[in-house]
Amino acid sequence: MKEGRGGSPIDNIKKSLGISAVHYQIPSYVNRLPYILGGITLISLIILFVSGIILTQFYNPVVSDANRSIVSIKNEVYLGWFVRGIHYWAMNVVIVTALLHLIRAFLTSAYKRPREFTWFTGVLLLSLIGGFIFTGTVLKWDQEGYEALQHHLWVMERLGVIGILLSEKLSSLHILSRLYTIHISILPILSLILLSIHLFLIKVHEISPLPWKGEVRMVDFTSHIKQLTKYGVFSLFLISIVALIIEPPLGGGPVEGIEITKPPWMFLWIYSLENIWGDFLIIAPSIIFMALLLLPIIDRGGSIDLRERKIGVTIFIIVLLLLAGLIINGMITSAGHHMD
Ligand code: HEM
Repeated sequence: MKEGRGGSPIDNIKKSLGISAVHYQIPSYVNRLPYILGGITLISLIILFVSGIILTQFYNPVVSDANRSIVSIKNEVYLGWFVRGIHYWAMNVVIVTALLHLIRAFLTSAYKRPREFTWFTGVLLLSLIGGFIFTGTVLKWDQEGYEALQHHLWVMERLGVIGILLSEKLSSLHILSRLYTIHISILPILSLILLSIHLFLIKVHEISPLPWKGEVRMVDFTSHIKQLTKYGVFSLFLISIVALIIEPPLGGGPVEGIEITKPPWMFLWIYSLENIWGDFLIIAPSIIFMALLLLPIIDRGGSIDLRERKIGVTIFIIVLLLLAGLIINGMITSAGHHMD
């Protein structure tokens, strides 16, 4: 049989592009919000990348000009203030939806066999998002950015030989310029690789079954694309509205040797613990990272039913409440010097 002959030109293009591959059956619950959170994270990540590419055209990663170039983006570049707002608020949506997506994956046992590697890549993606937020904060090169960098350098010092890679000792180039390279090339490349593996594994293993019994209707995958588009447009609308109303924080150039700021809200749990003991800056994120990474290895129990996972779910909820409490505590305590 001859290939690619017959049909309308549109049909032929569709065939050549393999568009018919999107017509496969998925369970209808995939179109509900809890199962769309990963998709919203993905769309917000795209908004983050596009707005970041625009900002890169005007940002200068040199200590003497970094803060000033952001002021210029805000005040002089056409719609620069708006793109900056979009970038900042998209980052907030990414972290919030990624965390809710993680909670959903935990509660529905989606980390269990055969989806362990989907979970592992998710945990690594979450760490990269943390890396984006940290490096982005330093790039502002205001007091908050400067103090974030001091914390980073302190950690690198403690890590000894491993820490040299990301310390001021490795190169004569200022660490700000190197963190900029990490922010705009290394982290995006790693994210794209991990994201591709994450999405590939989701396709291979299909979405996890509902953790309770019941009739499941099957629908075409295109209904999921439509649903995702709706949520994506809504996210962009929400991010734009907030960007119009609330300007992202930016202080003036930093003053060396003082500690008067707090980190962005998602790092406040670490900040609260640091107030008790400085070394928590290294220990606390490492414990959470390892616990998340090891979860599919530790919890290999067969049941996916919430009622049969009482201990695991209780521990998970206690940890979540503890982290939320530490974030709130970080918000209400006054900023001050807390590193030795
Ligand atoms: C950049 C961040 C992330 C993106 C863009 C992303 C994207 C997605 C998408 C689109 C899905 C399909 C189903 C859904 O939307 O729920 C999914 C599934 C999944 N994700 Fe993520 N994800 C991210 C981070 C994470 C994190 C932090 C974890 C957990 C540590 C995780 C674990 C999983 C698991 C286990 C599944 C399979 C769910 C199932 O089969 O029910 N992901 N992810």
